[in-house]
Amino acid sequence: MKLALLLLLGSQAPVPQDASWTEREWTKARTHTPLPDPRPNPTNRLADNPHAAQLGQRLFFDARFSANGSVSCASCHVPDLGFADGKSLSMGLGRTTRHSPSLWNVAQQRWFFWDGRADSLWAQAVQPLENPKEMGFDRVSLARTLRGDATLRAEYEELFGALPDVSSWPERAAPGDEGSELAAAWKRMSAEEQRAASRVAANFGKALEAFERRLVRGDAPFDRFVAGDAKALSESARRGWKLFAGRGNCRSCHSGPAFTDGEFHNIGIPPLAGGKPEDPARYAGIDRVHLDPFNAQGEFSDAPGGEEALELVTLERTPQTFGEYRTPSLRNVALTAPYMHEGQLKSLADVVRFYSTLEGATQVGHHQEQVLQPLHLSSEEAADLVAFLESLTGTPARNALLAPPSSER
Ligand code: HEC
Ligand code: HEC
Repeated sequence: MKLALLLLLGSQAPVPQDASWTEREWTKARTHTPLPDPRPNPTNRLADNPHAAQLGQRLFFDARFSANGSVSCASCHVPDLGFADGKSLSMGLGRTTRHSPSLWNVAQQRWFFWDGRADSLWAQAVQPLENPKEMGFDRVSLARTLRGDATLRAEYEELFGALPDVSSWPERAAPGDEGSELAAAWKRMSAEEQRAASRVAANFGKALEAFERRLVRGDAPFDRFVAGDAKALSESARRGWKLFAGRGNCRSCHSGPAFTDGEFHNIGIPPLAGGKPEDPARYAGIDRVHLDPFNAQGEFSDAPGGEEALELVTLERTPQTFGEYRTPSLRNVALTAPYMHEGQLKSLADVVRFYSTLEGATQVGHHQEQVLQPLHLSSEEAADLVAFLESLTGTPARNALLAPPSSER
């Protein structure tokens, strides 16, 4: 209600005189700015707790939570690389199958990962922790490592209560691949021990979410221009907006203040390795989010009967979802080349060329998005669209988040 009122008031703001945009283009522009705070997440009661955010910041940069002590979240989400990693496919303990997304403004999203297989940031965080190609750690070692570090232990226990006594637990254990040593050790634990270990993993995620919710980068030249600073955008970027909002039809998916509809589409980007696309993407993601013990409905959620849990009930896997990927936010996109779910495209110029020609676009069954038509952009138009995308690079809300916090509490 309040937001709707603000938007209404916003749309009556005076239009700067010297702009070349039509009233309609202005009206559309105002639907993208300013960037609001992320919506609350009641499934994590500490989502906006500053102490949880501080613990999360420590965890994010700490490589001890990996099987060989060398990989942290920050290995693939590098602050200086837009919290992405600059590679096509990420490398942790092994090579992953997808491109690392930027974490700037990540809390604006509704579903996480390219296929949306996690429904909250805290549920998301457990996956890289235990993925053998990423950090290859496990929830039992996690509990043990937290207990073994005085600072982490104190901060954790203040927020979440006592860490479990791990003395009788196996060295390492997680419900991983059937037949693995980790899974066998997991089976030897009692249900109660398993639940206690999983709770530590959920809490690890909840602290990380509190940190990630603060990775806000708004106030881009585009925001300043629409707010009335006529000098904030170059002429080229202003022409680029007209294309973005008009003939380019980009807003049909890159909508709203984060320039994403939060939904999934198949735009036909060919696989990095060539050949036919075989990744089911959203089709598999929907199954996985339903089965995830850390989802909004599960026992570790702080609001298992809330709106987020209800959304899962109505989430359905349909054939159309095969090969669909989540629409990325375009805010700060200039910071995080390469692009797309496998980093297939090297630069923004390449992305714009793709939308201009649709050259190489693949078809998955007959479910390809009908929205996309080759735009046949001139080289000037393509440069304008890139200039517009570059005008979405904002200013970090808090610089203190770009490195581990100092150790005094
Ligand atoms: C080995 C590299 C690697 C490590 C380590 C890693 N990530 Fe990621 N991260 C990725 C990749 C690749 C994806 C996309 C995977 C996919 O969509 O299937 C991703 C996705 C994400 C997303 C989803 C973003 C979105 O827009 O949906 C978040 C949030 C995230 N990672 C946070 C973390 C946190 C927190 C940690 C540490 C616990 C971490 N990552 C560790 C590579 C990594
Ligand atoms: C039908 C929905 C749709 C339309 C229309 C659309 N996009 Fe996208 N866009 C997506 C999806 C989905 C992806 C990710 C695709 C993938 O990884 O396979 C994407 C990816 C991108 C990326 C890469 C972002 C990143 O971080 O990797 C950019 C840049 C982009 N689009 C810009 C545009 C522009 C400019 C237009 C208009 C010319 C446009 N998009 C039109 C859905 C759309």
